[in-house]
Amino acid sequence: MKSRLIKDGIYFLGAVDWDRRLFDALIPLPDGTSYNAYLIKGSEKIVLLDTVDPTMTNILLAQLKDIENIDYVVCHHVEQDHSGALPVVLEKYGSAKVIISTRGKDMLIDHLHIPEDRIITVEDGETFSLGDKTLKFIYTPWVHWPETMSTYLVEDKILFTCDFFGSHLATNELYAEDKSKVYEAAKRYYAEIMMPFRTNIQKNLEKLRDLDISIIAPSHGPIHNDPNFIIEAYKDWASDTPKNIVIIPYISMHNSTRIMVDYLISSLTERDIKVERFDLSSVDLGKLAISLVDAGTVIVGTPTVLVGPHPNVVYAVYLFNALRPKTRYISVVGSYGWGGKTIDILKGMLTNVKVELLEPVLVKGLPREKDLKALDKLADLVAEKHREFSK
Ligand code: FEO
Repeated sequence: MKSRLIKDGIYFLGAVDWDRRLFDALIPLPDGTSYNAYLIKGSEKIVLLDTVDPTMTNILLAQLKDIENIDYVVCHHVEQDHSGALPVVLEKYGSAKVIISTRGKDMLIDHLHIPEDRIITVEDGETFSLGDKTLKFIYTPWVHWPETMSTYLVEDKILFTCDFFGSHLATNELYAEDKSKVYEAAKRYYAEIMMPFRTNIQKNLEKLRDLDISIIAPSHGPIHNDPNFIIEAYKDWASDTPKNIVIIPYISMHNSTRIMVDYLISSLTERDIKVERFDLSSVDLGKLAISLVDAGTVIVGTPTVLVGPHPNVVYAVYLFNALRPKTRYISVVGSYGWGGKTIDILKGMLTNVKVELLEPVLVKGLPREKDLKALDKLADLVAEKHREFSK
């Protein structure tokens, strides 16, 4: 795709990665992604904001074919999907310098071996003149790395945010027109990498509160020409109070755990609690992560296998612990053959999250009437605990 004009002297560059289906060899990308870069031509200086994933370097170079000079490349974030083509760009433009946050400098040297004399660091709030256009650098750390900053183009009120407000979405629409699609993709992205840094996200949102923003231009997915849409979504996702939702990630070997899960869902439904159920034998972990953004309670359904929880459950609980959602309560239901340490093992994994464990319901073999009553009791407890949450 060729570069596209956003406003006078401001261009959208970069590559749409339609076919990519996995990020970090971990995160599913059902809708692909994009690596956006931006070119700003000031009356005196020309600056490139971010580059692209190294696999897409040729696309960026083709877009820069007729650009004879670049004075600066702003590196908002060192991760290679944005900085990977930087060495090649610096080779093409031999006098260009990289502008980066103070924390990013050493990271740029470590990750990309950029020579120190090509790097200029900027402080939080520092401004930089391109002649008739002014860049203001705003540190927005921990979205999801510590060095990340955004750039505010003062005269045009455009905020370039890199990962922040981005979405893994391959599209040729320049702007976020299909809001429900962008909402889902942006929430997936938030859930997968930013949720563990929720309090930092809150601080960054607060920092941007008084900024007059007409456009948010992230480095993944389409541009937001309705900035409030994505800012309000982020405020909701990063807020402290979860919703009246129970997530049930489960797996069943001989149907006993599935019977319990089905019964529990019915019982929670009678108590007007929204439930989202995930079979961990074939789950899209991104969807599970999206649901965790709002969940008040997680109830894990697992059989006991090899004296502990099923390995797929272990994987899901490990991710839960790493993603640190605002979930307040957790419980476990399931069936065992003769014994085991399922609860102790799962409890021992929850080292990063402040959650209250609601009395688990673990039964020997096929659940009996008394076991189903215990599930009703668990549903009662969840309903009581969720009373303070909205839907
Ligand atoms: Fe899109 Fe953290 O890189």
